Amino acid sequence: MSTIAAKNLQSDAPVQLRNVVRQFGQQRVIDGLDLDIAPGEFVALLGASGSGKTTLLRSLAGLDSIDSGQLLVPKARAAVFQEPRLMPWKRAWKNVILGLRVPDAKARAVQALTEVGLAHRLEAYPATLSGGEAQRVALARGLVREPKLLLLDEPFAALDALTRIKMHRLIIELWRKHTPAVLLVTHDVDEAILLADRVIVLANGKIAEQLTIDLPRARDTGQEGFQAIRARLLSLLGVEVETAAVAERQAVTRTVRRFAHG
Ligand SMILES: Nc1ncnc2c1ncn2[C@@H]1O[C@H](COP(=O)(O)OP(=O)(O)OP(=O)(O)O)[C@@H](O)[C@H]1O
Ligand SMILES: [Mg+2]
Repeated sequence: MSTIAAKNLQSDAPVQLRNVVRQFGQQRVIDGLDLDIAPGEFVALLGASGSGKTTLLRSLAGLDSIDSGQLLVPKARAAVFQEPRLMPWKRAWKNVILGLRVPDAKARAVQALTEVGLAHRLEAYPATLSGGEAQRVALARGLVREPKLLLLDEPFAALDALTRIKMHRLIIELWRKHTPAVLLVTHDVDEAILLADRVIVLANGKIAEQLTIDLPRARDTGQEGFQAIRARLLSLLGVEVETAAVAERQAVTRTVRRFAHG
């Protein structure tokens, strides 16, 4: 575990944040945030653009510091971002083990790339990979470190819808196999509900709301209870689905009347 003034932390959760503050100049982006993530728990983080999701994730990844508060994270952690961040001059397998000092590094790279379905692309250079493949290499690079905490910052946002669905299945499969705690930042409410045990909403530098998702897996947007959770989350994010639906119904009614009378 790496700690920053973590003396008062009591639970045995691998991720514990207490009263964390991060500010840039006068702007308090994270403002007294508390958060625990249990071992193996899959948490999705939603929030408006600029609400501080990436800032929080960077602090958890150790890429940025905090200004005050307490932060406890496992030493074994890995982050995957929206763009794959691969070294263009290194083959896929070498990208996977970049900076990893272990004797059997290549074997581990091969295993990780096999797990993400890229056993046939070990020697490929990043420029020759599709967006989805490159993102899977980035995922393999995270996995090869056997993280207790996997941090994902909109890792599927740049992918087409079909590839995204495949990535959802892959991430759940890998999460089940390796059981890391996961913090997934996403703008996609459906994605959050499809994947996570718990969805948290970041606003004003704090966890404004959270919802436990106890829908059985494998999930799909048509399953019972899904749309109710979706409406609730959208409303927490300031999108009133009810209102939109009512307005739509009224518009339809008006149109029908027009046809009926005209
Ligand atoms: N290094 C920095 N220096 C100054 N301001 C920063 C820095 N990093 C982030 N910010 C500011 O902090 C706020 C939160 O940024 P952050 O990237 O965490 O938002 P986000 O929730 O990830 O947004 P998005 O959904 O658009 O990715 C923004 O106003 C941003 O401009
Ligand atoms: Mg961001």
